[in-house]
Amino acid sequence: MSESSTNKSGPGDASTGAPGTAANLPTAFELIGGADGVKALVTRFYDLMDLEPAYGHLRGLHGSTLDGARQKLVLFLSGWLGGPDLYVQQYGHPRLRARHLPFPIGVRERDDWLACMHQAMDELRLAPDLRLRLDQAFAKTADWMRNQSG
Ligand code: HEM
Repeated sequence: MSESSTNKSGPGDASTGAPGTAANLPTAFELIGGADGVKALVTRFYDLMDLEPAYGHLRGLHGSTLDGARQKLVLFLSGWLGGPDLYVQQYGHPRLRARHLPFPIGVRERDDWLACMHQAMDELRLAPDLRLRLDQAFAKTADWMRNQSG
């Protein structure tokens, strides 16, 4: 794998809150179990969004099928967690905030998204230090996505 297709060092992306890794430490991507771990997290996250009445409002912001969102979040998180930058390879720069502008995202939507992700991570029983890192990184990124004052 070439150096340019990975993101294993540096402080992370300040604007997106990616969970950066010091050069000699394993990446969050490695700690979560690589591609299989990312897929398991995204699968559970969107299954919960689809099934749990508590996330009905959040689900309603998405399209009739979650298939595209599932696929894209897997690609995005791979790079964001310090693994292969699959989203960028397929779609170019994520422009994540701009891509979320069509959806009204305020405090409620941010907190619902984080609650759904927390529930998915709870069920996957991640190691506590990885969990702490991801809690902080997701909180920062989700807050940065807000585009409504309420
Ligand atoms: C803060 C609350 C958030 C809400 C309400 C939200 C909602 C959405 C919606 C409605 C879509 C479109 C899905 C579709 O095509 O049906 C989407 C796409 C996406 N979201 Fe979020 N999202 C949030 C936070 C996040 C966070 C924190 C991340 C990453 C850590 C993220 C990553 C993505 C990605 C990668 C896509 C696909 C973008 C593309 O079209 O290429 N989202 N989101």
